[in-house]
Amino acid sequence: MAKILVTGGTGYIGSHTVVELQNEGFEVVIVDNLSNSNIEVLNGIEKITGIRPAFENIDCVDYVSMDRMFEKYNDIQAIIHFAASKAVGESVEKPLLYYRNNLVSLINVLQLMPIHKIKNFVFSSSCTVYGQPDILPVTENAPVKPALSPYANTKQVGEEIIRDTIYANPCYKSIILRYFNPIGAHPSAEIGELPNGVPNNLLPFVTQTAIGLRKQLQVFGDDYNTPDGSCIRDYINVVDLAKAHVVAVKRLIDNQNASNVETFNLGTGRGLSVLEILNTFEKVNGVKVPHIIVGRREGDIEKVWADPSYANNVLGWTATESVEDTLESAWAWEQNLAKRSKQE
Ligand code: UFG
Repeated sequence: MAKILVTGGTGYIGSHTVVELQNEGFEVVIVDNLSNSNIEVLNGIEKITGIRPAFENIDCVDYVSMDRMFEKYNDIQAIIHFAASKAVGESVEKPLLYYRNNLVSLINVLQLMPIHKIKNFVFSSSCTVYGQPDILPVTENAPVKPALSPYANTKQVGEEIIRDTIYANPCYKSIILRYFNPIGAHPSAEIGELPNGVPNNLLPFVTQTAIGLRKQLQVFGDDYNTPDGSCIRDYINVVDLAKAHVVAVKRLIDNQNASNVETFNLGTGRGLSVLEILNTFEKVNGVKVPHIIVGRREGDIEKVWADPSYANNVLGWTATESVEDTLESAWAWEQNLAKRSKQE
């Protein structure tokens, strides 16, 4: 079976994608510098799939080490490039860190592809490129809006770097995947989201509050122009999201792509508010999440959800997990983490 390089493969979306790739018979090589993940993730992947993927502790910013890695694994057929820093607030404080980490690593990988005769590239992008869309649900044809943070800018510029590179070298092919809001964990509860420090994202904050690690959740704003006043997002199950990467890789390897660069929205098509997520989480899991409404968070988009029909029709991929099951999986993962830390 084909060998796939997964950069950032011990991260949240990366680790779930490695599981789905291995389940489909692909051989995986992970490159990760563990800056925002843990080596123990490999144990979780092995427990679920029975296979421990090859792992190289390398920073993708390090061109020489990446070159050596490609020499060692000399028959890689496709790359899925997750490795990136992703905290919006931190990117505002440390813009150069974000431009270096996210863009230099992307450039390194793209530059090394022809040297090592690799043609296929899947890129982790984000619905953040749409900013606040004028029309909802948002399609891939919606205009890219000025980025609201250096992080968001790295995704926009990253997409442009890929398009320009492939325009100049038509033997490359890429699929750009624009994620909406991934949540939940693998149903085995062996892998899940593991944020460093205080979580920025909604779901890990919800689960950490429910288990008592945080006193209360702050709901950022209830005065938005939405039915209940809180922001709306398209929350997508992380395993559904991971499966889309397997489809994308197969599409590239089998030459089914319609053009050298294709861009897909990965979402459910359903928008849910912060309060709806909170209430559903409490209901399906039978736990309380203490929370207060506070002011708006700077830079938040009021509402965004995907039109996923292009991905549904062209990739033949659809998000199938319900939000209830997804919120249960997030809670099971948090509980498993608590059990593990008690045992230590
Ligand atoms: N929220 C709270 N309280 C919290 C955390 C979040 O109310 O403690 C709210 C936010 O205000 C927002 C919603 O929950 O309305 C979702 O917030 P997240 O931080 O989980 O997600 P965002 O939509 O802000 O950002 C996510 C990714 C970014 C990415 C962006 C768009 O974290 O990396 O989607 O793709 F850029």
